[in-house]
Amino acid sequence: MIDSFCFTPENAEKADVIVSRYPANRKQSALLPLLDLAQRQNGGWLPPSALRFLSETLDVPEIKVYEVASFYTMFNLKPVGQYHLQFCRTTPCWLRGAETIENAACRHLNAKMGETTQDGRFTLSRVECLGACVNAPVLQVNDDFYEDLTEATVVTLLDDLRQGRQPSVGTQVKRQTSAPLVGRCTLVS
Ligand code: FES
Repeated sequence: MIDSFCFTPENAEKADVIVSRYPANRKQSALLPLLDLAQRQNGGWLPPSALRFLSETLDVPEIKVYEVASFYTMFNLKPVGQYHLQFCRTTPCWLRGAETIENAACRHLNAKMGETTQDGRFTLSRVECLGACVNAPVLQVNDDFYEDLTEATVVTLLDDLRQGRQPSVGTQVKRQTSAPLVGRCTLVS
């Protein structure tokens, strides 16, 4: 059980630089980047001790730190697996088959949405728009985006991760970044 938290010397220096970007009487504005720094230091999640530490560091009431940390899905208040799978379910991804992608992943990993696999390697979460709608459906794995997914490509992606292979990030079909797919572009004259 983790009952205390403080930044490593290296992260303490980074935190000082971040806080120095804001006026002295506005240092609470550094809360989001410091939550991110703390989460990265702690293996992908924020224990209560980290929230308490940031509350003291930034002179922000602990409940406000909790409010921010619990509002954004980018912050985790429970441990997550080695790979945090964040499935976008907002309208463009949903229309392009997000539900099929989710179901395929849950079946393949034998886990439900919101759970972590028994081997501790994968946590499945559902999130709102990841901002890559043009290449829907989209899955974020830790810091990487995988786009234009299908039932088959998401399974291949999970197998690659399980085998320790780094899948190529971005679109999983032959398109240049977010350019229209050849044969799917309709011109209106
Ligand atoms: S709706 Fe999924 S990335 Fe925007």
